[in-house]
Amino acid sequence: MSKIAVIGAGNVGSLVAMRIAEANLADLVLLDVISGIAIGKALDMEDASVIMGHNRTIKGTADFSLLEGCDIVVITAGFSRNPGMSRVDLLNKNAQVIRGISRNLKELKKEPIVIVVTNPVDILTYLVLKITGFDKRRVMGLGGSLDTARFINLIRQELKVSYEDVKTFVIGAHSENMIPLVSKTQVKNRPLTEILSEDKIKLLVDATQKRGATIVSNLGSGSAYFAPSAAILEMVKAIILDEKKEIIASSFLDGEYDLKDICFGVPVIIGKNGIEKIVKLELAQEEHSGLINTAKGIKQCLICA
Ligand code: 2OP
Repeated sequence: MSKIAVIGAGNVGSLVAMRIAEANLADLVLLDVISGIAIGKALDMEDASVIMGHNRTIKGTADFSLLEGCDIVVITAGFSRNPGMSRVDLLNKNAQVIRGISRNLKELKKEPIVIVVTNPVDILTYLVLKITGFDKRRVMGLGGSLDTARFINLIRQELKVSYEDVKTFVIGAHSENMIPLVSKTQVKNRPLTEILSEDKIKLLVDATQKRGATIVSNLGSGSAYFAPSAAILEMVKAIILDEKKEIIASSFLDGEYDLKDICFGVPVIIGKNGIEKIVKLELAQEEHSGLINTAKGIKQCLICA
């Protein structure tokens, strides 16, 4: 019987716990520093199980010892952006939260696979890895798969096609410097560059890069949670069902893409052991240099994490 812990019972954490339970993938521990929030939401979700048709249990707590034996830990705890903020603006406050969580995870007898969601996710995924000392293939961050879904959604709506007809990749940092790979974007097996003008493509790229901020400014407080929680579920499902699925995730690079000692969004194969393989894409020159330049910015932030 799989057991998954979600740390942080805010919008993303509680919704992904519900999605995992309703997909009948695992029993859940929902942990929050405010135990009442975790307990109240867990009780409510368990009541829904009768209507939604599953027997999964969801236990709310503030006690890290309940995480013992977990197969996966999803970290969503921390502060979210206010309108006008970048994800990196959250670094100081969220690095403190992540250091505390990582020290608790380090004490666990069984090493879980960790999915980091808290922003700035590439830097904080690296921080979790360094503090826990877990295997580099068992710590990953949510980012590129969410950004790729957004790019596909914008393209499919522009061209009035099914999402299944659009193939693309958004790699690099989960930030406004993310890199939608236009050179590898195809719609019904045709290059996007043959279908849309350069200006229109630039508008779609820009909208993708700013999508998170657009949602934050519309919400007024807090950030997106429907698509992030769906993207986390995709990663959890690939692990629990050993799907060997190609997903873009923030992963520790040790020379791949000419990058070392950094966590960055690249396509990886995810299965029961976590990141089972890093997929090498051939990049256009400007895409590769964009990746290298963004990585320099991330590395500078790592110093103060
Ligand atoms: C987003 O892009 C929260 O980083 C997440 O919406």
